[in-house]
Amino acid sequence: MSDISLTPEERALLEGAEGPGVRRAMEIVVTLGRIYGAPDLVPVKHVQIAGVSYKNLGDAGVAFLHEWAEAGARVRVPTTLNPAGMELDRWQSMGFRPEFARPQLAAVAAFVRMGVTATMSCTPYLMPEFAPARGDHLAWAESSAVVWANSVVGAYTNREGGPSALAAAIVGRTARYGYHLEENRRATHVVEVRCPLRSVADFGALSYLVGKQVGDGVPYFADLARWLPPLPEDVTLGGEAGDRLKTLGAGLAAYGAVALYHIAGYTPEAQEVGERLIAPEARRLVVDDLTPAYRVMDANPETTELDLVTIGCPHASYSELARVAARLRGERLRTRLWVTTSQITRARAAADGLIRIIEEAGGEVVADTCAVVAPVRSLGIRRMATNAGKMACYAPMHSGVHMRFGTLEQCLEAAIRGYWVGAEGETRP
Ligand code: F3S
Repeated sequence: MSDISLTPEERALLEGAEGPGVRRAMEIVVTLGRIYGAPDLVPVKHVQIAGVSYKNLGDAGVAFLHEWAEAGARVRVPTTLNPAGMELDRWQSMGFRPEFARPQLAAVAAFVRMGVTATMSCTPYLMPEFAPARGDHLAWAESSAVVWANSVVGAYTNREGGPSALAAAIVGRTARYGYHLEENRRATHVVEVRCPLRSVADFGALSYLVGKQVGDGVPYFADLARWLPPLPEDVTLGGEAGDRLKTLGAGLAAYGAVALYHIAGYTPEAQEVGERLIAPEARRLVVDDLTPAYRVMDANPETTELDLVTIGCPHASYSELARVAARLRGERLRTRLWVTTSQITRARAAADGLIRIIEEAGGEVVADTCAVVAPVRSLGIRRMATNAGKMACYAPMHSGVHMRFGTLEQCLEAAIRGYWVGAEGETRP
């Protein structure tokens, strides 16, 4: 373990000047720094904590949070929370059980007591008050958000664990290693895409093919910009480009362990540095067909009857809600539909009447949770459909469901008709 340079203030925190809770947090941050050879600590502007669902925390996790809050630990930078296992205000009417809801609410209460804002969303970058800026140092734990921050924004964050992110929030710093250092942000793979990418689902399929090969490397997409319109001026609205990039990053993190990618001529570092970002030993990958990805991700082609169609992984943007509302206007759904999003995005969309349209069709715009972190099997859900790469990866693993994967249009068509449209391959774009 290397030594780490600490300021007098940091040393005082480590020696317990602000109580046992802060000392414990400083010990975690400094220990990680020593393990990874960090020269010093770096102040962070914002922390995003993941692993918030009672499904992940269990009783031991909830007790740990209460102990920390009891010990006087308080966050000293803006800190937000990932989705919980249920919508916090409407869990009863949605069918969640009290034995799950009670400890879940207790966990959120412990976070709030420590000064954390209960945003309950994996998309802090879609919230005007928390969206990061180029060059910000962050301590984010949600893997899909980490990729967005590093890649789309050009901020600096490692993929923190739940306790290390909370520790960083309590001391307002993280150890300077990994993606906080320029030398670790160079591309390890150059990816050439020779097939068309026409939808968010196609970007999810691409994330499967690239994530599986790149692992925890840094892909440099040489020619992806042609499939991306410019990001909207207000990037917190998402837009077609934001929605494609959101699913790409989430899938790269889920199928591989990617925390950063570059797109030639598009993402900030690629625009500033160009091909000098590519490490000399970088490997080349060519993607010329998405069919193998669709075959794996659309995992249960024999399943046509569905219990749930779910859109919004990562949490739906305003633009995704607008697209869903446009398709569902005047329709009547035959399959349960969840569009999962944040309270903040839902309120923005509600102000423009989008939520009313979706609800009038019989859809549910669900905040605070998603079909991976919620105990969906206890709601009787066994067969799902999605247009999101990460959901297609995690829901079968974490919730044991059968999965159909396709475009947003296919998913909404399935919700309207009550069954997956098309079979034996022709459902695929
Ligand atoms: Fe977010 Fe749940 Fe997907 S936490 S990234 S919607 S699996």
